[in-house]
Amino acid sequence: MTGRDSSSSPGEAIRAVGLGKVFQREGQNRVVALQDIDLVIPTGAFVSVIGPSGCGKTSFLRMAGDLEEPTSGEILVHGHTPGEARYRREVGFIFQSPALLPWRTVIENVRLPGEIFGDESVSGQAQVVLDTVGLTGFEGAYPRELSGGMQSRVSIARALTYRPALLLMDEPFGALDEITRERMQVELLRIWQAQQTTVLFITHSLSEAVLLSDRVIVMSARPGRILHDVPVPFPRPRDAGLRADPAFVRLVEGLRGMLEG
Ligand SMILES: Nc1ncnc2c1ncn2[C@@H]1O[C@H](COP(=O)(O)OP(=O)(O)OP(=O)(O)O)[C@@H](O)[C@H]1O
Ligand SMILES: [Mg+2]
Repeated sequence: MTGRDSSSSPGEAIRAVGLGKVFQREGQNRVVALQDIDLVIPTGAFVSVIGPSGCGKTSFLRMAGDLEEPTSGEILVHGHTPGEARYRREVGFIFQSPALLPWRTVIENVRLPGEIFGDESVSGQAQVVLDTVGLTGFEGAYPRELSGGMQSRVSIARALTYRPALLLMDEPFGALDEITRERMQVELLRIWQAQQTTVLFITHSLSEAVLLSDRVIVMSARPGRILHDVPVPFPRPRDAGLRADPAFVRLVEGLRGMLEG
């Protein structure tokens, strides 16, 4: 976190300054989802966000991904407005629910960004990333023929095909069984390191946040504010074995205490 200077410098994937989001629709209660968020995420970092349900985590991601407008303050992605960054193919969004097109097969869903961008090399990546997320053999299946966990892996594959410099991931592994989840965590770390992307990762799993991240941002209940910005000191590469380390367990418990206030 830095001061309230809104000028972005190179090496910053995200800069939020005094960022807030209020939802108000006629006849509905006014909801202050987020308030006064100051946050800088350097390029190449892996940062997780944890916080109670409804504290504005998805809203934050949606503003970074140009799917929602801030109501106060500002947010920059690689020094651009989120709209510009999206246009430049810099941002990949993995939604809390898979958001697949039901009339398209698995591989057609994964090829979609390539078609939108008119870039055949992106479409050509589709099979490679499907293999990576363990969906070889399901290329021709329709989303309704897949389990929830398989659908979320398709949506992860879809975002990975065009190698965005910034991956916004909203509880991407929430629908996965524990074994698949652990495999996907390791796979994500591998991709993150190989592609040198920045990852902003929302999760309700404290151990997942610690295992994956350089920093864990702890948010308050609504209106969401940043309560703590906790560095994760463990060296990389990391693997699932780290979970048994007493220092790991202590850090997870520390985060739990922060959430419980
Ligand atoms: N489009 C919308 N219109 C009105 N209110 C909204 C809208 N989107 C979100 N909200 C409200 O903003 C608050 C924050 O929602 P958000 O989805 O960002 O929370 P979250 O931290 O992602 O929660 P969860 O952990 O359950 O996914 C909630 O009170 C929600 O009802
Ligand atoms: Mg959410």
